[in-house]
Amino acid sequence: MDGKKLRPIPPRLGHAKRTTLGFTLRIHMHPGQTVEPYLAAAEAFTHAWRVHAVRVTSPRRGLIVVTALKSDPLMGAEVGAPPMPSTLPLLTVRAGRTEDTGDWTLSFREVPHWLIAGATQSGKSTLLSAVVASLAPQPVALVGIDCKGGLELGMYDSRLSALACTPKEAVQLLTRLERELLHRMRFCRTMHARGIWDLDSELRPDPIVVLVDEVAELYLSDGSKESRELRAQCSTLLLRVAQLGAALGIHLVVAGQRIGSELGPGVTALRAQLGGRVCHAVHDEETAQMALGDLAPEAVELVQRFSSAEKGVAISAVSGEWRRVRSTRISREESKAIAETHAGMTPYIRTLMEGGDL
Ligand SMILES: Nc1ncnc2c1ncn2[C@@H]1O[C@H](COP(=O)(O)OP(=O)(O)O)[C@@H](O)[C@H]1O
Ligand SMILES: [Mg+2]
Repeated sequence: MDGKKLRPIPPRLGHAKRTTLGFTLRIHMHPGQTVEPYLAAAEAFTHAWRVHAVRVTSPRRGLIVVTALKSDPLMGAEVGAPPMPSTLPLLTVRAGRTEDTGDWTLSFREVPHWLIAGATQSGKSTLLSAVVASLAPQPVALVGIDCKGGLELGMYDSRLSALACTPKEAVQLLTRLERELLHRMRFCRTMHARGIWDLDSELRPDPIVVLVDEVAELYLSDGSKESRELRAQCSTLLLRVAQLGAALGIHLVVAGQRIGSELGPGVTALRAQLGGRVCHAVHDEETAQMALGDLAPEAVELVQRFSSAEKGVAISAVSGEWRRVRSTRISREESKAIAETHAGMTPYIRTLMEGGDL
């Protein structure tokens, strides 16, 4: 030892860049330095700089972006603008706005399956309405599973290729979807295609988006043998559709208030298949962890602190990035009307039809 003291090397600060909403600052870290101290200090920065919020993200290893916001950009009146579905690329949903004032879109081509979490009245069904409104004018089959008696998704019946309102119907519908999946798989194999997107467009079957509202209804049983069996079947089938569906154009959007371990091991396995996550306000840490813990651990606390005024505000996360977003406020009536206008677009998929031979 030469007796020299270890001297900490501070990370390299970029110049602060002014934006319409506040400013951003890029910080380049040296090996061994981590984002944690910045995450822990975000609240203190907010007070020190007298701003509305400070977001700390690390888009890649070694880089930190600190964003300071003067006010909440998601609370403006313009957030309510209805989507304009006619201009959207296939399987893209215009969901609302991002905190950096951009359009918030979800693409099932980029991320095949999505989980939407949130407490009651946090905005889950409203986001499902935006999905229906965006996809209704597109050549996409929409399928609903709503075991709260179809109260939410029943409204879009005219544009749905199938709707299940009880766990028993859900098992039937998921079985039909599995048949369709196997049918598509065989067809792709015959054509030497790895999935439907490798097929010529005139041979390609229409994509199917399966909307599940209140997923806990599928997993919780009343304890009877019949109900336990139904739940186990739902769980296995849903997981199978998630595992095999992506390449075959069968997509899932699963919305739920509670998605914790009380629903059994099946739900954890399902979560691993749902690469896109939208988490609204939640009151229990387990649901926040389940929704964001693996993809955006920094946001797990944030969603538990959303206020009741922040309806429709959520964290949207995919692997490697997360953003604060707010869904478009679209009323049930509006999306029902859009669904009815496009009822004629509902694709005919024989295996999904009641009476279609299984
Ligand atoms: N983006 C939004 N902006 C404003 N209000 C919203 C937004 N999303 C939802 N809301 C309102 O919040 C309430 C609950 O929404 P809902 O989607 O039914 O919640 P959940 O399905 O989670 O129970 C509704 O009255 C709805 O109008
Ligand atoms: Mg709801």
